[in-house]
Amino acid sequence: MWGVVVFVMVLSVAAEFQSSAGLGVNWGEMASHKLPPETVIQMLKDNGITKVKLFDTDSSTLRALAGTGIEVMVAIPNVDLAAINDYQNARKWVTYNLTRYLYPGGVDIKYVAVGNEPFLAAYDGMNLNTTFPALCNIRKSLIDAGIGDIVKVTVPFNADVYGSPIENPVPSAGRFQPEIADLMTDISRYLYKHNSPFLVNIYPFLSLYYNREFPVDFAFFDGTENPVFDAKTKINYTNVLDANFDTLISALKRIGLGKMDVMIGEIGWPTDGDINANVLLAKRFYQGLFKQLAVDQGTPLRPNKYIETYLFGLIDENKKSIAPGNFERHWGIFTYDGQPKFQMDISGEGLNTTLIGAKEVKYLRNMWCVLNPKVKYQIENQGVNKLGDNIKYACQTSDCTALGYGSSCHGIDVEGNASYAFNMYFQVHNQAEKSCDFDGLAIVTFKNASREACKFIVQVDSLSSSVQPSIVHLLILSLIFLVIHPSLCDVFLYR
Ligand SMILES: *[C@@H]1O[C@H](CO)[C@@H](O)[C@H](O)[C@H]1NC(C)=O
Ligand SMILES: *[C@@H]1O[C@H](CO)[C@@H](O)[C@H](O)[C@H]1NC(C)=O
Ligand SMILES: *[C@@H]1O[C@H](CO)[C@@H](O)[C@H](O)[C@H]1NC(C)=O
Ligand SMILES: *[C@@H]1O[C@H](CO)[C@@H](O)[C@H](O)[C@H]1NC(C)=O
Ligand SMILES: *[C@@H]1O[C@H](CO)[C@@H](O)[C@H](O)[C@H]1NC(C)=O
Ligand SMILES: *[C@@H]1O[C@H](CO)[C@@H](O)[C@H](O)[C@H]1NC(C)=O
Repeated sequence: MWGVVVFVMVLSVAAEFQSSAGLGVNWGEMASHKLPPETVIQMLKDNGITKVKLFDTDSSTLRALAGTGIEVMVAIPNVDLAAINDYQNARKWVTYNLTRYLYPGGVDIKYVAVGNEPFLAAYDGMNLNTTFPALCNIRKSLIDAGIGDIVKVTVPFNADVYGSPIENPVPSAGRFQPEIADLMTDISRYLYKHNSPFLVNIYPFLSLYYNREFPVDFAFFDGTENPVFDAKTKINYTNVLDANFDTLISALKRIGLGKMDVMIGEIGWPTDGDINANVLLAKRFYQGLFKQLAVDQGTPLRPNKYIETYLFGLIDENKKSIAPGNFERHWGIFTYDGQPKFQMDISGEGLNTTLIGAKEVKYLRNMWCVLNPKVKYQIENQGVNKLGDNIKYACQTSDCTALGYGSSCHGIDVEGNASYAFNMYFQVHNQAEKSCDFDGLAIVTFKNASREACKFIVQVDSLSSSVQPSIVHLLILSLIFLVIHPSLCDVFLYR
């Protein structure tokens, strides 16, 4: 126990010398074939990225982040919120998933994100009862563990928790959505009182995706013919980020929190999987965003201010749910294998530079699985459904999002479609011989099957580099005495 206290004190001194500036990225790991964390961390360093936001507390990732000086936000997934409504579970969570990484030379964990967009309209109120108590329990646990000053709590909210009324759609009329206004008020005040930021995810791409009438140039940063004029503040809004951010500022002001610190937890643009998801528009978006961030321009209601920002995301993730759309698997500023997608200058100086990609990536062999050209005759005469069924099967457990409308492989012929699907299945199954059959329709080839814009990938070899979990950590943990403490949450003292 004393050892832990001493570690913590050393760490708090070190934390004071950390600079707050710098760009962050969201490091999601919903991929079938992950790059080794060490490789990803080298990419971060090579590109001057100093902060990462994680979606959990994956131990191999956190162990690799130790001693790197990279600032880390860890997260509690929504599915764990209910359990953490029990204070004892919150204490355990902090011990097992947090304090074990806080030793001298350990991980610079600065925030715990409690839930991920827990009040997203699509979740239908599922997390409304559990988020605030979990937030409170985690904060209390941090304090009881002696790290309340080092590690802060926050909640990443989707921008759908606030808005302006339809009859007055301007930023100055911003308010929290009426159905959750009381809860949002309580949580925001709680965060503010405890020096935690309001964390919001803002997606100009989605404004465009969900509303095809949305003026395209308003999603970017290079001016618009039709600015949104806010009569109350006399401000002309020329991009959706400013307008959205200031809507939140107005909502906070309305509840007396006009000075609350706001951070952007996720922002970015996908490069495939939709008509507006492509390299050209992504490049345009990021160029404008970086330019604005570089000069600490802030927004009209928060001018000349550094806004801490985390890009979404780092690397494409082929296991993300595509319920919101096919673009979900293409948010990375790097491809699945850690290579830059386009010219990007994160310094915001508009230089024609490229990000530095992952080094020494290990790939599977140069092999592809394609439709056997010899069975073509068969397909045309009797096998159309057999082919269709096999394509469907291949796509179910792999990623065929590039085949959809508006995507990079849309418009290739039906044979190309089949080959693409078969190859994705083959690669996701580590090129196992059995995974290139499809009722005898498929065949392995050593010739690159890519077609112009439609890339047929060779997967990363993630088997040869998987990390074994350390038993030593668990042994040490079992020796740490857990302080039993009654719940002291002040959650319900607010109303
Ligand atoms: C640590 O985090 C994981 C992943 O979120 C969770 O499943 C596990 O229950 C946590 N451990 C404890 C002791 O709470
Ligand atoms: C949340 O609590 C309210 C009031 O106790 C209850 O009516 C509602 O069913 C609960 N919601 C969920 C998702 O548990
Ligand atoms: C806002 O923009 C409109 C259209 O460009 C322009 O007519 C108007 O003068 C602008 N108002 C202010 C206050 O800048
Ligand atoms: C930027 O650099 C790339 C490759 O380094 C080059 O192909 C491209 O023409 C350059 N673009 C401009 C605008 O200079
Ligand atoms: C290829 O597959 C996509 C996605 O399943 C589909 O939308 C498209 O129509 C197919 N194209 C052909 C030529 O079959
Ligand atoms: C296959 O070809 C594509 C497109 O020409 C290229 O981008 C890719 O690197 C090639 N793959 C391999 C493994 O050589």
